Amino acid sequence: MPARPVANERVLSFGAGPLRGEVRVAGDKSISHRALMLASLASGTSTIELPNRGQDVLATRDAVAALGAQVDDRETTIVVNGGRLRDPEATIDARNSGTTARLLLGLCAGNGISARFDGDDSLRRRPMERVARPLRALGAQIETTGGRLPANVRGVRMPSGAGYVLEVPSAQIKSAILLANLNASGPVRITGDRHSRDHTERMLRHLGRDITFDGRTIELRPQTGDREQLGPVNPGRIRIPADLSAAAFFIVAAAITPGSDLLLSEVGVNPTRTGFLDAMAAMDADIEFHNRRDLDGEPVADLRVRYRPLRATAIAGDLVVRAIDEIPIVAVAAAHSAGTTTVRDAAELRSKESDRIAVIMETLRACGVEMVEHDDGFDVMGGGAHVPSRTLATHGDHRIAMAIAALAAPTGPHEIDDADCITVSFPEFLKLWESAQR
Ligand code: S3P
Repeated sequence: MPARPVANERVLSFGAGPLRGEVRVAGDKSISHRALMLASLASGTSTIELPNRGQDVLATRDAVAALGAQVDDRETTIVVNGGRLRDPEATIDARNSGTTARLLLGLCAGNGISARFDGDDSLRRRPMERVARPLRALGAQIETTGGRLPANVRGVRMPSGAGYVLEVPSAQIKSAILLANLNASGPVRITGDRHSRDHTERMLRHLGRDITFDGRTIELRPQTGDREQLGPVNPGRIRIPADLSAAAFFIVAAAITPGSDLLLSEVGVNPTRTGFLDAMAAMDADIEFHNRRDLDGEPVADLRVRYRPLRATAIAGDLVVRAIDEIPIVAVAAAHSAGTTTVRDAAELRSKESDRIAVIMETLRACGVEMVEHDDGFDVMGGGAHVPSRTLATHGDHRIAMAIAALAAPTGPHEIDDADCITVSFPEFLKLWESAQR
């Protein structure tokens, strides 16, 4: 049964049924943000192919335009003419997007830009000091509001480069530091990483920077030659892989629903993002990798997923960092597997778009799944979920809404209170879901 609107436009019912055929999901959100930001710094024309079209990335598109980049949005490509950034006239509205706020704070901090940042109610609740602290260390002035947005930044033009230790193994903090140090006169060394996503590092290399990274330590060497003329990176073409975090909802739905056979094309399989696929492999999911290749510095593959009974697994440590956005959807897979799945070391989930530990507990319990809550994770007693007797609350969190679509595939219908929030990362989701679940 296809997803269909009920009652009002935001309430939506997801039906049961296998997923079949071929889908290219939305462009990678993390990589799209970075492409827009680096293109805005590069002197010349960059072309971003198949960018993510969600609200988060559009917030970054509008922000770099407000910072002086010329942005020509042709939908399937965005052409950016960068290199002459300036102070924005108005407050930068990062909307729901932590990546927009945190990375752009870094970009402004090291490029001599003064700006004010704000966001929606959810983003105003999320921590910003963890980014502000290392940026102050390079000389930028940053005032937050009790550690949160709104925040003001007054940037420096040419930091001297330095060593940083990450207080949280977060790609957003690491990337903010890198963006702030692209004009640094000396080398920059960041330690304390734990295989958080390395898209910024890869894109910097793709656009001509001398950088090394091994999952723990990152070293960025200063530009040689005339820095003023060269700019911090070269302009270039960046084709965006399909987002594994978006594909994950389709992958789990197909893996837990008998009769499914789905091909997901050109999906990003960067090892710092594939914790989710490792967890699914440990659960014995039938996922085949085809046609592995490189796409402008990022590994991609086509993934074929078929139904097969799953078994429970344990998720902790660095695996959590490499699967941080997929924990809600892994919990859905766990509900449909044999045995008890444990998730630990995942306290960061409480600082995402919603408190994802609390919200996933509430969602699965409403479907009859037994769960135990921990400060830093949860246990899921597998064995199946049933149709909930009430509309499920998404708490405005796009990943929760899409996880519920997957939860409905073997046993639906499941109704959600707010389908609109899906546009944050994946505006084409409903159309693609319907095309796969015919
Ligand atoms: C992101 C990094 C992750 C992730 C977020 C996107 C990024 O956050 O949860 O959705 O693009 O760098 P943290 O780095 O704060 O864990």
